[in-house]
Amino acid sequence: MTTVLLTGAAGYIASHTWLALQRAGYRVVGVDNFANSSPVVLERLAELAPAPIEFERADVCDAAMLDEVFGSYRPAAVVHFAAYKAVGESVSQPLAYYRNNLGGLVNTCEAMKRHGCLRMVFSSSATVYGAPEQLPLREDAPTSATNPYGATKLMGEQILRDLGVADALAIKGGAAGPAWQTACLRYFNPVGAHESGRIGEDPRGTPNNLMPYVAQVAVGRRDKLSVFGGDYPTPDGTGVRDYIHVTDLAEGHVAALRRLLDTPGSLTVNLGTGQGYSVLDLVRAYEAASGRSVPYEIVARRPGDVAACWADPALARELLGWQARLDLARMCEDSWRWQHLNPHGFN
Ligand code: NAD
Ligand code: WQD
Repeated sequence: MTTVLLTGAAGYIASHTWLALQRAGYRVVGVDNFANSSPVVLERLAELAPAPIEFERADVCDAAMLDEVFGSYRPAAVVHFAAYKAVGESVSQPLAYYRNNLGGLVNTCEAMKRHGCLRMVFSSSATVYGAPEQLPLREDAPTSATNPYGATKLMGEQILRDLGVADALAIKGGAAGPAWQTACLRYFNPVGAHESGRIGEDPRGTPNNLMPYVAQVAVGRRDKLSVFGGDYPTPDGTGVRDYIHVTDLAEGHVAALRRLLDTPGSLTVNLGTGQGYSVLDLVRAYEAASGRSVPYEIVARRPGDVAACWADPALARELLGWQARLDLARMCEDSWRWQHLNPHGFN
């Protein structure tokens, strides 16, 4: 049985991917330091999982801990989710973001190299496209970073590409043996929750992202949504994004991992639906799914936001045989089930 190490395993996207990987027949071992997650996730996963939940509490910046984990479990591949992800916080605490996101990535790659495990699936983001010049976004569109968080994703991708360059040089110089294979997955806007309602997104403090905020308004934890900008050049004036169900995203990781294990080479692909929805589209869909009203007020634009962003998902279909299946109504229904069954998240 092939063993896969998940870093940041107790987090939102990783916890859903954990179940998808187990269902696909992989042995999964998770590591997390709970910097932005709760140990309760592991209990919930144990209820849902088709196989035992194997977990080690570890910080990916701790080389000695990683050596222990690699030595004990001997994974064939790593899915690297561990990172901080709040854009605003990255602007006020850039060093913490560079240390954790880039230090953690380099440390994980070094441990992989020491243990001869050279396959990594990396959590990248559509944030690497900066302000899109053309839509839909193809993987060959220009990239840029507008904040330190985005810079860590751009640089993370670069680090993995550079490992490939170093391998190519070594092979040209006569070196044989296995080489790095990496998959950079550029997620668009992950939303929704597991259909059981037992795991989902549980942001700490005020949610930064739209759907968790809307969910907390619908459940009565917050009075109303502030809609950031009503004067964008979009059909209804509000920002347009490519929302993707976290379950579809999880399946995208399974497909990427399978590809790395079966086929030589590395890849960078979008994981999105290819369909854009506005803030008000999402509010209306959430009201329909929850049967609750979601009061909102249009306020000033949020600095750094782009008007519209959606994926061209064709490359992922071609290379991975993967495409998103679940629609916006289903994203809202599953988010709502999670939210109203767990009004205060995991606690
Ligand atoms: P999350 O915060 O729920 O999950 C990240 C997990 O990593 C958390 O459980 C956290 O405790 C853990 N972690 C952080 N630093 C760690 C460290 N040093 N050692 C061990 N564990 C550590 O976030 P998520 O939304 O599930 O995101 C997962 C990945 O996907 C991140 O890399 C994020 O940047 C990326 N991403 C997320 C989105 C999004 O909108 N959610 C979009 C694009 C990319
Ligand atoms: C979506 C839309 C907002 C909150 C961010 C990161 C990106 C990626 C995903 C990690 C926009 C509007 C939001 C609110 C609102 N993360 N909005 N009121 O900005 O597309 O992407 O998360 O990689 O890097 O930047 O997602 O959910 O914050 O916003 O009106 O209270 O909702 O203006 O149009 P975004 P989001």
